[in-house]
Order: sequence, then C-alpha cells, then structure tokens
Amino acid sequence: MAEVRRVGMLTGGGDAPGLNGVIRAVTTKCIEDYDYEIVGLKRGWKSLLDPKPDTVMPLGVDDVRYILQEGGTILGSSRTNPYKNEGDAERVVRQMEDFGVDALVAIGGDDTLGVAKRLYDDFGVQVVGCPKTIDNDLSATDTTFGYDTAVSIATDAIDRLRTTARSHERVIVVEVMGRHAGWITWGAGLASAANVTLIPEVEPDLDEITRIFKERAENGEKWGLVAVSEGVTFSEDFVTQSAEKDEFGHVRLGGVAEGLAGEIEERTGIETRHVVLGHLQRGGTPTAFDRILSTRYGLRAAEAVKNGEWGKMVALRGNEIVTVDLSEATDETKTVPGDFYKVVETFFG
Ligand code: F6P
Repeated sequence: MAEVRRVGMLTGGGDAPGLNGVIRAVTTKCIEDYDYEIVGLKRGWKSLLDPKPDTVMPLGVDDVRYILQEGGTILGSSRTNPYKNEGDAERVVRQMEDFGVDALVAIGGDDTLGVAKRLYDDFGVQVVGCPKTIDNDLSATDTTFGYDTAVSIATDAIDRLRTTARSHERVIVVEVMGRHAGWITWGAGLASAANVTLIPEVEPDLDEITRIFKERAENGEKWGLVAVSEGVTFSEDFVTQSAEKDEFGHVRLGGVAEGLAGEIEERTGIETRHVVLGHLQRGGTPTAFDRILSTRYGLRAAEAVKNGEWGKMVALRGNEIVTVDLSEATDETKTVPGDFYKVVETFFG
C-alpha cells in the first residue's frame, strides 16, 4: 500500500443534500486527526479527465467549517464516465498521479461508485466510496443522505397542493423523482396522505384510479392528490423528456404526470392538473437527519482511508456505520418491497 499524504475527494452524479456534510467531515478528520493534505477535485470524474485551472481545490478546516447546512456540493458534480471511451480510465489514473493524489474519496451513487470499483479492480487505485443518492436505491446501505430531505420537500409540496386542489375541486397529479425505485414517492405519498401513490415497482391500474376518484366525488370530495414516480410506466416504455442518454446510459425522465392527469380528467370528468417537482427535491438545506448521517459517513470514510480499506465504501447498517465492498453498492438496485407498498395502499381513497 502506497503511503498516503494527499487525499483527493470528488462528488459525482446528481447532487444530494448532505454532500457538503461529508466533505466537511472527511476534511476535518483527515486534517486534524491524521495530518493529511486534502484537495477537492471539482466536477466529479471530469476533474481527472478534463482538468481545468480551478479543478484542484485545496481544503482546510476553515474552508468547510460552515458548509454543513448548505445544499449542493462545493465540489460541483458531473455525470462523466471514464469507462465510456477506451483509454480514459488510464488517463484518470495518470492524472491522479500528476495531481499527487495518493488516495481518493469518491462520493456518489451507483454510477460514480461503479467507476471507483473498476479503478480499484483494474489499477489498484486507493479509493474509498461514500454512497449518495436522493433515490435511496443503493442495496448496500440501509439509507442514503439526501433521501430524508427529498421526502420532506415532496411531502411539504403535496401538503400545499392539497389546499388548492380542495378549494378548486381538482385532482392534482404530482410527479416525484426516482428512476427505477419509488422510495421518494412512497415516503412522500405516505407522509402526505396522498389519495393514490404510484411507484415504478407496481404496475398502475387506471381503472382502479378512476374508481377511487369517482367514488370520492360521489361522496362529496371532488378533488384529490396522486403522487407518481417519474419512472412509472403505463405501457412498456418510460415517459421521457428526450431520447438522449447521459454517459452512463440514462435517459432523462419526465412527463408521466401530465399524461396521467389527462387520463384521469377524461375518465372521471374532474378537472385535473399536474405538477412536476423536479430538482426542487434535490435543492436547499439538508434535514437534521441527513446532516447527521452525512457527517457520520464522512468521519468513517476518513477512518477507512487511514486504515487502507481500499475498494470499500461506508454504509449504514442498523445504527452502525460500517464498511462493505464497493461491489455491494453496485450489485443491485434496492426497490420498494411489495409489503411496503401495501402500507401506503391501505390509505388509498
Ligand atoms: O439519481 C438522482 C436523480 O435525482 C433521479 O431521481 C433523477 O431521475 C435524476 O437524478 C435527474 O438527473 P438530472 O439532474 O441529470 O436531470
């Protein structure tokens, strides 16, 4: 194991409230307890493929002292994939050497951590991962920071939409983020007592949705709220904003709420509108839960660097922060189990 003096840190993929909490904790612990030099590498893996004059951001304890409450990431992010084009992964490793970075803390979701794992497997890069996603769909950890904040924002939004839906006797369909896993929609639908909650894991039943809103109208409640994940499909395909794929092969989802609102209006005769929450769910200050979780992850990630736990990532198991193989993070998508869906389904209507 090569001696560690300079630790690089990067954030990749969609941002999540809590990223700055990890950056603060890694920086503070690495400097104060281990005397490492810390540098932020700006814009995810792009920092090592396409460096710019501002790519390397030296970090001191004073630089991160007040960032815990801030949303986003002070290191910026990108969806750059060094395994997309041949030879790029080798360039990443060379660039790390040129920057004098001996070890890396990679903070990201399955795409970013998947790259970290391959760099470790292929080149022995000294890397520790930290899981991040508002979608809460990483199998290796009980939960990820950003999820609690996203659920809180979506819950608040649906609560607000309820008063206007009721006043105007409308149904409002609210589109919530979550590509393949409906965790945010499940949490927000449950917490806000939406009348119907639809997630990608369960095939939607339009006849049943129609029945629910017709019955409510007959009982004098000619209004209602539907929480729907952006990844819900009514035919084979996702509803997308464009067919273009990002470097990890993801299409940009969006539009399912609009289509569903039209269907509900046509079938029930109740005026129906839609709202897309979009990036509002990722913005702004993290909840206390996410501040605490991200801080604990960051402290443990710093310890993992000190211990030389390369190819591992930090994870929450029960109430413990542990380290697990990076492969566990990327093995499978954690989706909402059927019995969890039954919990929310109990309150449909
Ligand atoms: O993976 C997190 C996420 O917020 C998804 O829920 C969403 O589909 C996607 O990112 C949006 O990505 P972008 O910010 O690139 O539009």
